[in-house]
Amino acid sequence: MLLSTPPLGWNSWNTFGENINETVVMESADTMVRTGLRDAGYEYIVIDDCWLLRERDSEGRLVPDPEKFPHGMKYVSDYVHSKGLKFGMYSCAGFLTCAGYPASFDHEFTDARTFAEWGVDYLKYDYCFHPDSIPGHILYKRMAVALANCGRDIAFSACSWGSDETKLWIKETGANLWRTTGDINDSWKSLKELSLIAVDALRYGAINCYPDMDMLICGMNGNGNVGLAGCTEDEYRLHFSLWALLGSPLMIGCDIRSMDETTASILTNKAVLAINQDPDYNQPFEINIHTATLPQHDQEQQLSSGEIPIYAKLLSNGDYAIGIFNLSDTPTNRWSAVIMADRLGLPETSGMTLELTDVWTGEKTVMTNGIYSASVAPHACKLMRARVIPKP
Ligand code: GLA
Repeated sequence: MLLSTPPLGWNSWNTFGENINETVVMESADTMVRTGLRDAGYEYIVIDDCWLLRERDSEGRLVPDPEKFPHGMKYVSDYVHSKGLKFGMYSCAGFLTCAGYPASFDHEFTDARTFAEWGVDYLKYDYCFHPDSIPGHILYKRMAVALANCGRDIAFSACSWGSDETKLWIKETGANLWRTTGDINDSWKSLKELSLIAVDALRYGAINCYPDMDMLICGMNGNGNVGLAGCTEDEYRLHFSLWALLGSPLMIGCDIRSMDETTASILTNKAVLAINQDPDYNQPFEINIHTATLPQHDQEQQLSSGEIPIYAKLLSNGDYAIGIFNLSDTPTNRWSAVIMADRLGLPETSGMTLELTDVWTGEKTVMTNGIYSASVAPHACKLMRARVIPKP
């Protein structure tokens, strides 16, 4: 199996866009080691779009832009590997990449062989400019089978943005991860939109075929290619917590060479990463209490639970991971952010309860009377690891 847990790494697009080059890539590889990101589990360095010339060579192969990559791709790949990291690249299922460079349609086997020769370990495969006459599942199968026969293990990262019902056919293609939505940008508006639709893809995820909620914007602070308004620290923490709990790949998108301490502390939080990398990869589920099940008075008090999703996931050691995500503009109250033990298979009769540890603050609470509620500020979250214990 190529990816037994969601891949962790860095991708050039969010910050660098077309301004990608070998210096940025190699310095980012150095930074992964220096800052402890590699030791925290981040493994892939991925070059996104715009790395190549506008024409293939006389033998029909893709050519790295010599101004951006003067030593060629094998050189960069060797460097990345020398740091104990893996090397990723980008192409597209259409005639052109999304930024208008040559792409792999009708060149799948040639390109897969080229990537293998360059020592590529991961291929992100986009969906722009594809022929309408061929369905998406066939386009992704074409590259998947080429990669499976290229002589090298290359993780296949499908990027069809959830369109054409990707979730229904993606597992047929052998892709190891697949984008569930359109592109993220560095703003609360984008983060909230993507967070609200995340739930649609959850049940389609599986080990070795992970739903990819798009690259992280943590630490961009409004800078770079998709940098817009930027987000607050709470918002970046919510973003990282939600992506981690829902089992998304975590591909860093900021310029890690200059990331601040807050960003580093978010990205390397061991307890959060352990939830994301839990080996069982059980499906997360929503445990909001439906308004209709509450007494009339409580119904009136409850905020729209749609804006305050609460997710849980059973972990391999018997703990639960539980996250409350306040996407609304109002603080949560005891009606809108409530966790009931019986929703987690722990009825009163079990004699068991939960000891909840906040993974960001370390604060511990024991749930009493089968119920827990939290006050979570607007645009913030509470992510907890919950241990099943006998009732005190
Ligand atoms: C699409 C993808 C992005 C990025 C760009 C590159 O928009 O969804 O993640 O790869 O193309 O052009």
